[in-house]
Amino acid sequence: MIEEAAKIIAHSRFLIAFTGAGVSAESGIPTFRGRGGLWENYRIEEVATPEAFRRDPNLVWAFYKMRMKIMKDAKPNNAHLVLAELEKMGILRAVITQNIDNLHKEAGNQHIVELHGDIYRVKCTRCDYMEDLLESGKLEDFLKEKNLPKCPECASLLRPDVVWFGEPLPQEALQKAFKLAERADVCLVVGTSAQVFPAAYVPYTVKDNGGSVIEVNTKESGITPIADVFLRGKAGEVMQSLLVKVKRYLESEKC
Ligand code: APR
Repeated sequence: MIEEAAKIIAHSRFLIAFTGAGVSAESGIPTFRGRGGLWENYRIEEVATPEAFRRDPNLVWAFYKMRMKIMKDAKPNNAHLVLAELEKMGILRAVITQNIDNLHKEAGNQHIVELHGDIYRVKCTRCDYMEDLLESGKLEDFLKEKNLPKCPECASLLRPDVVWFGEPLPQEALQKAFKLAERADVCLVVGTSAQVFPAAYVPYTVKDNGGSVIEVNTKESGITPIADVFLRGKAGEVMQSLLVKVKRYLESEKC
């Protein structure tokens, strides 16, 4: 199976990766669905919708600050690092991610499309103000502040720049993702249950255009039925073995 996946990747013309929470699980960031997932302990309607934010911004901000704290201490794991190396090797063209944890960037990938936003970015609920708390160096102070965050320009409430349930995805990212999916001949899907749309259409688009889908997951997902190769296991471990095989494959073809 892994040999087959390595061969497909080594022969790919335009490889993209589509990632979800499972790619960051080994970095200590909880996934959403299944045992121990965030949606087991929190209700989506209470913490991840525009209505929830209007009703109780304190509760929603407490949820996102809790996640910010976990994410800021997390480091990229082998799965992120392998994706970065595949990009450096000129094989992987882009990572399209549903994650908001910034770990693909930290690992070194340059071509990243974030479909669901970025937890470190905040934006005003009224004006155009936006701030990246990592870039501005204000993350630690932001996390310590007990009061609700207010816009420095118009004093309205700030919100996290993430996509909540019931909200449209950012247009530019969405267009970029599907343009890449249209061009791709192979999609490497890592650690997603593929239950949230339109993001999960990315691998289907590649498949519909005659491309191949390789999936890495600890268990079957919504994508498994269309996967040409399903690699069961933890992303960090599987991706590491996959990279070794891809390199071996490329070497053997050189001879
Ligand atoms: N390695 C590989 N896969 C893993 C690992 C691991 N170590 N741990 C968990 N997984 C898999 C699970 O089997 C599951 O299929 O990762 C997937 C995680 O699925 P979800 O929790 O549903 O996360 P995701 O698919 O990213 O969710 C999509 O839903 O709640 C929204 O906005 C949120 O972006 C998120 C979207």
